[in-house]
Amino acid sequence: MRTVYVNGDYVPETEARVSIFDRGFLMADGVYEVTSILGGKLIDFEGHAVRLQRSLDELEMRSPISKDDLLEVHRELVRVNDIDEGMIYLQITRGAPGDRDFAFPDPETTTPTIVLFTQNKPGLADSPAAKKGMKVISIEDIRWGRRDIKTVQLLYPSMGKMMAKKVGADDAWMIEDGYVTEGTSNNAYIVKGNKIITRALSNDILHGITRAAVLRFAQEAQMEVEERNFTIDEAKEADEAFITSASTFVMPVVEIDGIALGDGMPGRVAPRLREIYLEESLKAAV
Ligand code: PDD
Repeated sequence: MRTVYVNGDYVPETEARVSIFDRGFLMADGVYEVTSILGGKLIDFEGHAVRLQRSLDELEMRSPISKDDLLEVHRELVRVNDIDEGMIYLQITRGAPGDRDFAFPDPETTTPTIVLFTQNKPGLADSPAAKKGMKVISIEDIRWGRRDIKTVQLLYPSMGKMMAKKVGADDAWMIEDGYVTEGTSNNAYIVKGNKIITRALSNDILHGITRAAVLRFAQEAQMEVEERNFTIDEAKEADEAFITSASTFVMPVVEIDGIALGDGMPGRVAPRLREIYLEESLKAAV
């Protein structure tokens, strides 16, 4: 049985308790991070910790834990659960004020709730899906206007994933005013010739930690990167496409709305970027 972390304690998962008045449960008033584990080490912990603090600041929520202690909790959970490859999920909510109220509770009397758990995923790096590539559909992006804050309001992304599944695809890319914003739980890219094209950072998308690393590695490898909007029609005519996230690293996309890209197999750029990403981020893992 897994050992999880709740508000300062390491407990068996069946003994972990959060109040029914918790604002994460009642209002989706919480933020989260997903950090991958490779070789028993954390990939880009620093990036996730910095983004977590930014999400908290944007929502005027305070952190119940210091960055150093947070790293210790991550490491301890990896150790006690003996994880070689997988993920750590972290969630912080505004806490449980003891009743339901739209107004934020007084932070002096209501402490934030913090929960962490591991997900064991052997073979995460050497994924068969990465060799085959994935199929996406396009759906309208009807999420709220602060997608740069990593909140736990994930109902529409879940629905998007289900819409994809129903038609035999793997995921959905979301479209706003004709332009691709991002995937349900990942950032979206197309490749034209040697050029990697992805939407620029704004409040419209999550500022992916994997995105930042991949764009840096791409530039170091002399690949051309263009941060700009692209339409779904442009994507369907691209040479390649791919997504990035902490749980998929770099994953080729081979089909959009039933239209195959190139020969319908992963191309040259995405698999190479995946290789570079895995190699480089493992070197820097903590
Ligand atoms: N999702 N965009 C969205 C909407 C996301 O939910 C995520 C991450 C990303 C990629 O960010 P990063 O590279 O920092 O993982 C982009 C995580 C993995 C999840 O919800 O499970």
